[in-house]
Amino acid sequence: MRETTMQRHLLGIRQLEAGQIEALLALAADFKQRVISGKEVPSVGNKTVGMLFFENSTRTRVSFEQAAHYLGLKSVNFASGASSLNKGETLKDTILTLRYERLDGLVMRHKMSGAPSLAARHFGGPVLNAGDGMHEHPTQALGDALTILERKGRIEGQVVAIIGDVEHSRVARSNAWLLSKLGAEVRFVGPRTLIPPITSMLPGKVFFNLPMGIEGADVIMCLRLQRERMKEGLLSSVGEYASMYQVNQETLQYAADDCLVMHPGPLNRGIEVDDIAADGERSAITAQIENGIFVRMAAMYWVFGGELPNLTA
Ligand code: NCD
Repeated sequence: MRETTMQRHLLGIRQLEAGQIEALLALAADFKQRVISGKEVPSVGNKTVGMLFFENSTRTRVSFEQAAHYLGLKSVNFASGASSLNKGETLKDTILTLRYERLDGLVMRHKMSGAPSLAARHFGGPVLNAGDGMHEHPTQALGDALTILERKGRIEGQVVAIIGDVEHSRVARSNAWLLSKLGAEVRFVGPRTLIPPITSMLPGKVFFNLPMGIEGADVIMCLRLQRERMKEGLLSSVGEYASMYQVNQETLQYAADDCLVMHPGPLNRGIEVDDIAADGERSAITAQIENGIFVRMAAMYWVFGGELPNLTA
């Protein structure tokens, strides 16, 4: 049996301390520089990681694969649609199967909030959350933070407006935790039906009016309408939503002149964002994609027992 008591996992940002987040970001920046300049990356040994994507993914899945590749890890894919879950197997039994098939770590995306935590209880090795329901998407927030650091020099004091379907967004939650822990001012902007009812549980101020919420923002994070998680009747029409909350050339005028436009993808162009905002010079969307690789390298390195840089030394 593998030891589970001191096992590291990355299940959410909420459980991390600011110092750990900063150290993960510093490690990711170091890995980025090494990969780009062709320098050696430290090894975490001969390990195999299972990539368990129970929900659709392009960016997160490929960047975890790339991160594993750069770290010298082997990855094993798991196609949930073709697995024994379709024969009535429970998630717990699937996780135990993968454990005794001697996988060393798991990367997991699931529609159920908390599924990676359940996996972590039974797997016996590190589990990394690649997005669980409406709960957290910690590596997305780390990649977004690395992008803000690169483009703005610091996170502390930045005014960050997270716009759109906050209620159903794990990206919004992980970003809100991370940014507030590192001293940014977080704002949630969206229609009443798409802002969580108990916002006192989340660190940020709420705005139902886009120009007011975007006023003076240094960073704008657009969110996709997560229609796969929505109950009927939350939106009267997508067109009306777009006319009130779309980030575009006109609404961007309220933000700081040098604001960053961010989006975790996939983009629904013409709904939450238009082409000019998404592809303009203030856009950091492609940088977010690329940085996703390096923060996932740092996260896997850390959960497999690698040391984080000591930033106070
Ligand atoms: C997000 C997700 O899956 O939570 N995408 C991503 O991982 N980059 C956001 C979304 O699906 O809208």
